[in-house]
Amino acid sequence: MLVNSRHQLAVGCEVPPGEPQQSGATQQEAGPSSKLPTFAHPSEREFAQILDFYGVKWQYEPRSFPLRWEEGRVIEMLTPDFYLPELDLYIELTTLKQSLVTEKNRKLRRLRELYPDVNIKLLYRRDYHRLLAKYGFGPLAQAEVTGIDRVLFTTRQVQQRVGELGRQISLDYKDTKPVLVGVLRGVLCFMSDLMREISLPVEVDMMSISRYNGGGHGVHITKDLDLEIAQRDVILVEDIVDSGMTLNYLLGHLRAKGPASLEICALLDKRARRLVDIPIKYIGFEVPDEFVVGYGLDYLEKYRNLPFIGALKPESRE
Ligand code: IMP
Ligand code: MG
Repeated sequence: MLVNSRHQLAVGCEVPPGEPQQSGATQQEAGPSSKLPTFAHPSEREFAQILDFYGVKWQYEPRSFPLRWEEGRVIEMLTPDFYLPELDLYIELTTLKQSLVTEKNRKLRRLRELYPDVNIKLLYRRDYHRLLAKYGFGPLAQAEVTGIDRVLFTTRQVQQRVGELGRQISLDYKDTKPVLVGVLRGVLCFMSDLMREISLPVEVDMMSISRYNGGGHGVHITKDLDLEIAQRDVILVEDIVDSGMTLNYLLGHLRAKGPASLEICALLDKRARRLVDIPIKYIGFEVPDEFVVGYGLDYLEKYRNLPFIGALKPESRE
């Protein structure tokens, strides 16, 4: 969020084009930290807490990017809200109404033109509300669900694609005995079908992790693996990858156990919403930026047992 006072301060300071500024006073040690900075908006605080929960390091407004100059003076700049150093990603969080973000978009385009190497992502109010709703917060969390808007993938399409994934894995892991690791509970249907499509002597294990609930405790494993995976070929099986923060954490946890190899197989990829970009070797389907349910995936524990994958009615989520 571009804080007005800072904008005013920026006017008149002399910065050569192409040189981002360190805004020293607001530079923050990378999180997680118990001492939170003074955020300009409550949404920024909540976002910082979610990042902390998933162990994603962040800095608050560490840099300002001059965007326009007049007679050598900076007359416009943008100070992205967050920088995630491990991901080399800036995040600008806007809680403005969708109709009011044109100006913000213009600034972002300008920033990308001037600083093409800078990786920046704009989280709109809608994105932010969806992020919160996933953890049971915000205006969308209590939304009344009126049903399924439409079928995205029929039972038949799902079975066919899972068959393809199983055959591909069987080829890639020929002569090995991979361990399939699933994350409860959304992966139940996918795992049970996928394992039967793999013509190798696989082993299967399940784990479960805590979800962000607004509290300060970080993510942790609530059910760890029973099998030993050191020196084993591990395939982490997920229902859907959204922001990627769950997967990012799980990968770190599994890597520490010293597997011979570690790949990801995700049924659904909601790529538009990715914050932590993780290479996924096997993807069933890409899905649009909508809340999807069925075939194991739930909305507040409902719809898991639908045999197809569908999108919820938009009005039920907004
Ligand atoms: P991430 O950490 O943001 O990538 O979130 C991944 C987890 O959020 C998944 O394992 C799901 O449990 C849940 N999730 C994300 N998007 C959806 C959706 O559209 N439908 C149901 N669950 C979802
Ligand atoms: Mg701000």
